[in-house]
This record gives sequence, structure tokens and C-alpha cells, in this order.
Amino acid sequence: MAISRIILGVTGGIAAYKTPALVRRLKDRGVEVQVVLTRSAREFVTETTLQAVSGLPVRDNLWDKETEAAMGHIELARWADLVLIAPATAEIMSRLASGSAPDLLTTLCLATEARIAIAPAMNHVMWVKDAVQENRRRLEERGVHILGPDDGDQACGETGPGRMVSPDDIVASLLGPAAAHPVLSGKSILITAGPTYEAIDPVRYITNRSSGKMGYALAAACQEAGADVLLVSGPVSISPPVGVKVLPVQSAADMHAAVHAHLDGADIFVGAAAVSDYRVADISRDKIKKSGDDLSIALAQNADILASVAALSDGPFTVGFAAETTHLREHALAKLEKKKADMIVANLVGKDLGFDTDDNAVDVYWKGGEQSFSKRDKAMLARDLTTLIVERHLEHSHTAMTAELPATMVRD
Ligand code: PMT
Repeated sequence: MAISRIILGVTGGIAAYKTPALVRRLKDRGVEVQVVLTRSAREFVTETTLQAVSGLPVRDNLWDKETEAAMGHIELARWADLVLIAPATAEIMSRLASGSAPDLLTTLCLATEARIAIAPAMNHVMWVKDAVQENRRRLEERGVHILGPDDGDQACGETGPGRMVSPDDIVASLLGPAAAHPVLSGKSILITAGPTYEAIDPVRYITNRSSGKMGYALAAACQEAGADVLLVSGPVSISPPVGVKVLPVQSAADMHAAVHAHLDGADIFVGAAAVSDYRVADISRDKIKKSGDDLSIALAQNADILASVAALSDGPFTVGFAAETTHLREHALAKLEKKKADMIVANLVGKDLGFDTDDNAVDVYWKGGEQSFSKRDKAMLARDLTTLIVERHLEHSHTAMTAELPATMVRD
């Protein structure tokens, strides 16, 4: 059955901050979303935000006469095609498994005939506890669809299974992959993402704080828009978007070689990777031993991948990034000019923006134009950037084509 109405139950875990993005993705796919908050969820996400993105008043109270008069909880339970609980804490799993219903969300789960799906999120030690795993098994046996959790870095600073599955993956699991948007169908896009590792000796390297999130989000957005995407990625710990081919590399030299080996036929190149400008001039074959108070390491400049792609005579439409800590506009325009890219996406980095964050804000520059995108989730930003890249690419191809035609054949 097609899913067009979802009750989204949000419980009290740190991953609740991702639920506005989840609501937005579901709405983008044409789904009506009624958010139901538990009391502890309010500690992590606001009713105002969820109401703004869902377009419906948030429900949280079984005994609220006003909301019950508008749509009683039994009616609400019947309204939904699916009840999704994300994030689902160990507590809600236990309540669902035991059938207790002390609040609106658990009551809805008992009163509904719709399918129930949960996206657990908790500390990895809690997730592997027998009690939690027993509840998971009981829920699964009763037909509850369990999404994840993912394995990786956790908000508590530890690593393991317990991260909530990403909003994009939740939506794809429930509704299937998004239908290809035709704007980029038939187009081939090569994207670089993540950091590079420049070896010092067999156990040490020079790198930077890039997580790959920006480049991976762009790959997902371009793929969603119908493109055939290849990601050339430095070492990261995030999963690639479903359907995107990934070529893992380590150093800037590896990335340079991989890009040029796969550029043939690419329509668009996006350099979102934080490529090291320098490598160690002479990599030590053995681990460097501690000796003396100081140690100097000579560095040699790496080839500029973006500039080398932009310099190709029949190369792709070229989009670079500029990561700056000051004078964003000035430095970005200088990079646009020096590297001869068609577009530069400039971001201020540091202070919780740019590197290894879920959000970003950028100013985009091209010859004769610019556009700003205020702070938003990288997945949303990537979609907005993709739309702009498509517009600029079309304009660029049109200009290039008309430049080749005799003047008498050129019309607007
Ligand atoms: O990965 P995240 O944690 O999500 O963070 C995202 C990001 C901050 C890494 C991303 O938004 C970003 O800004 N990427 C480019 C980072 C960077 O290296 O900027 P730069 O100003 O040093 O380089 C300018 C451009 O030249 C970039 O497109 C870069 O890929 C490219 N370059 C740089 C050096 C080099 N040797 N070859 C290159 O191609």
C-alpha cells in the first residue's frame, strides 16, 4: 500500500535533532506527517520547528481537550498509513514490547492497525544489552519494521552500533529510492570528497578535518537528480549514498590520478575534497624515531586537481570549493580566477561550520554572478547547489554552443 500519511513519533534521544530534516524529506515525497512528541523528546527538539516543517500542530498529550476535539487519538491512529518512531529509545522499545501505553505515542501504537517502523538510537552498550535485544526480537516477531541502527561515531564520543539511520536512508527504506529527477539524467558527474592522507612514515600522516559529508551529500543530490555519479573519496567513516560508485583513495597524488583516469565522458566535475596542498617531500620508509627537541619535515607542493581539470580543452563543467577562515569573497574570487573553474562554492570553515558538521552555509561565485545559501543541513544545501549547478551548466553549454555558430544563426 502506498504510504501517504505518517505519524512520526519522536522520543528523547540526541538524534531527535535530525527529525526536522526527516519531516522535510517525507514532505518532499508528498507524505503528510503528523508529529507526536514524547515528554523527553522536548529536551532535544522544539515543537515550533517541527510544526513549521510539518505544517501541522504537534501532538504530545493524550488528555489535551482541544487537540482531541479536532482529531481524537483513535481517529489519529486510523488516519495513519504508518507509525514511524525515530529516534526510538530503549525505553520506547521496552514499552512497545510490553504493550504498556502511558502516553499518546504508545497509545497510538496500540490503537493503530497501520504498520509500525522504528529507527533505534542509543549508546552502543545499551543497544547490545540482552534486554534491548530481546525487545528488538519481540518487536520484529510482531511485524515491527526495525531500521538500523547504524554503526559509527556516537554523540557520547564513543563508537559502535546505535546511531540513528540517516533521514535519507529512513525515507528510502520506507518509500523506496526517489524517482530520478530528469534534470541530470544521462549526465555523468565526477565528485571528489573527504580529506587526503599524506604519509610521513609508515604510521603517521598529515590530514585535515574533512568528514566527506558535503561531497557525499552532493553525490546523493546529483544521483537523486538522475545523474550517473562517481565519487573519488579520501578516507572517511560515512557510508556512500546507495547507487553511487565510490573510488577510495588516500593521498592527493592518488586522487589526482583517479580523477584523470575516470574523467572521460564526465559532463560535470565537482571538487569538494579537502586536498592537501603539500605532501611530505621524502616519506620515511621506517617509523621516524624521537631524537632531539625539534623535527623539521620538508614539504613539496601537490598538483592542483581542480586547476588541472579546468585546464582541459574539452573538459567538463568545473565546480570548485573554497574553504576560508577570513575574507571569504576575496579569496574565493581569487581561486575562481586562478584555477579557471566555472564556479566556486565558498564556505567559511572553523567555528562549527564547514568541516565535519551537519550544516553549512555557502556563497557561490561564477563569472558575472553570485548567490548565497544561508546555513542549512548539508543534504538540503546539496540539493540547492545541484539546482544551481544545473542552471549554470546549461547556461554555459548554451553560451559555448552559440559561440561556435555563425552570428546569423544565434537567437535568444
Ligand atoms: O567534508 P566535510 O566535513 O563535509 O567539509 C566540507 C568541506 C569544508 C571540506 C567542503 O565544503 C570544502 O570546502 N571543500 C574544499 C576544501 C579545500 O580544500 O578548499 P581549498 O580552498 O583549499 O581548495 C580549493 C579547491 O581546490 C577545492 O575545490 C579543492 O578540492 C581543490 N584543490 C585544492 C588543492 C589541490 N591540490 N587540488 C585541488 O583540487
